[in-house]
Formats: sequence, structure tokens, C-alpha cells
Amino acid sequence: MEKLTNFFNPFKNKYNPDFAIITGSGLGSMLEKAKIFERISYKDIPNFPVSTVVGHASELVFAELGKHNVVFFNGRFHYYEGYSMEEVTITIKAAHAMGVKNLIVSNASGAVNPTLKAGDLMLIKDHVNFIFADNPLRGVKGNEKFVNMTNVYDEELRKIVKTIAFKHNIPIKEGVYCAVMGPSFETISELLLMERLGIDAVGMSTVPEVILARFYGMKVLGLSCITDNAFEEGVVQHEKVIQIAKECGEKISFILSEFLMEV
Ligand code: HPA
Repeated sequence: MEKLTNFFNPFKNKYNPDFAIITGSGLGSMLEKAKIFERISYKDIPNFPVSTVVGHASELVFAELGKHNVVFFNGRFHYYEGYSMEEVTITIKAAHAMGVKNLIVSNASGAVNPTLKAGDLMLIKDHVNFIFADNPLRGVKGNEKFVNMTNVYDEELRKIVKTIAFKHNIPIKEGVYCAVMGPSFETISELLLMERLGIDAVGMSTVPEVILARFYGMKVLGLSCITDNAFEEGVVQHEKVIQIAKECGEKISFILSEFLMEV
């Protein structure tokens, strides 16, 4: 980890990013609006894994967007790929080493709530962690590991996003995201259980990063693209999911560009 910290520390002085943005796929259009300072391929960063998922980029981009210097992690690591919790959350450690205070995460998820449809945008208001087997804070020394997870997705930041979406007539819903380990999809019984628990959408990422970000005291904003109905998963082609994520990513890009001009 020391190598990682040594690699990222200098970027604190060089670009002083105050927002980190972690995306799976589809936020390329956001970079078009940004003034790009520097791109670094994950493979050139010590200790950094390279995402194995089709449709996921693998690079870090320093840029200016709106009123802020941001660092994009274009491509994330999933537990189901076989990475350890430490590897899955390495982007957050890197962001922390650069002094980042705010995290924006986006992901793709399947609708559990029947009122959500493929292509919908969902602001994450809370999460349920069903990745039972592991936690990025397991084994951390000291009482700080007992992180408070109330208001995990910052209410003020959510309000700003909702106002922007309303102003530009972009439909946005708000809901609870559930993270599962994957890579197998959920059984119908598991999905019915989730529905009863008040879960709106299910996916295989985000929560580990968010937990570690809260440990470091970052404010978190989360957005989810509904790519399919989870009850029909398996019927939908991966390519279709990527296509919907791309279109949804354009809406997210627009909202976040406005957001970074406002905050
Ligand atoms: N389940 C889990 N992860 C997902 C889904 C799903 O239905 N859709 C997109 N990511």
C-alpha cells in the first residue's frame, strides 16, 4: 500500500482534486465537457488491478469540470472478478491519498421495484449490503472502523441533484440499492425477498467503495442506471445492458456536469 500512497501523493499538490468519480461504463461523454489534464492507464499504476469486465475502461483521468478539479476512475473492480476487498476499494485509497473529500459513484443495476424500468435513472438514497462474506473495514485497528452509515448518501448533495434534474426535465427516481456478491444473478425467491425489504434495485458493485469512503469521511453521491428488470435477468443480453448503460450514462454525465458547476 505504501507504493500506492507514494504514487498518488504527488497528485494532491499537482491537481488537488476535491471530487473522485468512479464509473463502471458509459460516462465517456462527461469527459468531453471536461478540460483534461492527464490520463493514466491502470496498468501503469503500482498495485492497481486492471478491470476484466467487457465494457469497462481502465484508466484514471485528471480533469477540470465545472468549478472543480476531479479525478475520474474510469473502470472499477468487482468482488466477483476474484479481487480481494482491498483491491476492490483501491480507488478509494488512491482518492484518499490525493486528499479527495467527495465521492460520486455510478453503476448499473437491475430493477427489483416494478415501477423502475430499463433506462431509468435512480439516485441512491440508501443501500443494503448483501455482500455478507467480507467488508473493506474488516481487520482495521481502532474504533474508527465502526463507521456510522446513517445518511451515507449525502442528503444535501441528493437535493441538489434532484433540483438539477427537475430544472432540465430529466426524470430521476430515488431508491435503495442492494449490493450482492455475484457473479450469479439472483433467484426469483431472493428477488421477492428484496422487494419485501424495500429494495428498489440490485447490482454487484459500489457498496464496498462507499463504506471505505465513509470511513475516510468523504461525502458520497450515488447514481444508478437501471439496465434491466432483475426478474428477467438472463433473458437480457450483456450487449443490450451495455447499450442502455451508455445512454443512461449520457444523462448522468449531463447532470453531474451541471452539479459540479453548482456545488
Ligand atoms: N442483478 C445483479 N446485478 C445486476 C443486475 C441484476 O439483475 N442488472 C445489472 N446488474
